[in-house]
Amino acid sequence: MQIVHTPEALRSVCAEWRREGLTSALVPTMGYYHAGHASLIEYARSAADRVVVSLFVNPTQFGPNEDLEAYPRDFERDAALARDLGADLLYAPAPESMYAPDHAAWVEVPALAGTLCGVSRPIHFRGVCTVVMKLFMLTLPTLAVFGEKDWQQLAIIKKMVTDLNVPVRIEGRPIVREADGLALSSRNVYLTPEERAQAPSLRRSLLMAAELAAGGERDAAKIAEAVRTFLREQLPLGEEDYISIVDPDTLAGVERIGQAALCALAYRVGKARLIDNILLRP
Ligand code: PAF
Repeated sequence: MQIVHTPEALRSVCAEWRREGLTSALVPTMGYYHAGHASLIEYARSAADRVVVSLFVNPTQFGPNEDLEAYPRDFERDAALARDLGADLLYAPAPESMYAPDHAAWVEVPALAGTLCGVSRPIHFRGVCTVVMKLFMLTLPTLAVFGEKDWQQLAIIKKMVTDLNVPVRIEGRPIVREADGLALSSRNVYLTPEERAQAPSLRRSLLMAAELAAGGERDAAKIAEAVRTFLREQLPLGEEDYISIVDPDTLAGVERIGQAALCALAYRVGKARLIDNILLRP
């Protein structure tokens, strides 16, 4: 596996692959790998001739009071894992090489970014879209792979690519979980043992929502309230950011569960902000 640190080097390796007629898959990441990242890289490996993994803690997607400095990092371990999983190229730029001091261009999808996580993280998705678009322009991959845990991010990137005619296929991959149901996240390391013990109730609350919908409950507000009540009891160390039931593509709120709807939630648990989601099928 080759490791490059500059946009020019990334562009040049990927251009050479295209000249050779090879397909490529991009897996954008912020590092500190767990089995969720591994599943994305493995999928990319199975789907294209060449695999690029980007490892960049993107400063523009963190708000002023968020965890940019504290975000866990372990470059050596991540590089070894990416190599073992079959990545061909690891792109690990310094922030200065991704953002010039006078950087002024942004990519935004405000219609989908102002809801769910965007309410408490108002600049987050602008930073995500901008860095992902930069990675797309440098790599020009055949496809790019994202996890469904960040469902809103995935929906926004799909919309960005459609609306801006970006010739990249976007593939979402299922959430990977601990044995007790907690969705894997690099931020789970922030949890104390007591918080960690309560955190799987997020998954259990979503399974309950799915059961209610499957059992005939059509009223989205009632399902959201049942999730809230459950978590008040089971996750007393947590504080709700949101529990929402939305259209999986447009992220607009739904009142009645008709076709598939997405139940998404975010909770602050100690220093961690945990997100999870489930599709509700009537
Ligand atoms: O999901 C992430 O890890 C990040 O938001 C991404 C897509 C790598 C952009 O920085």
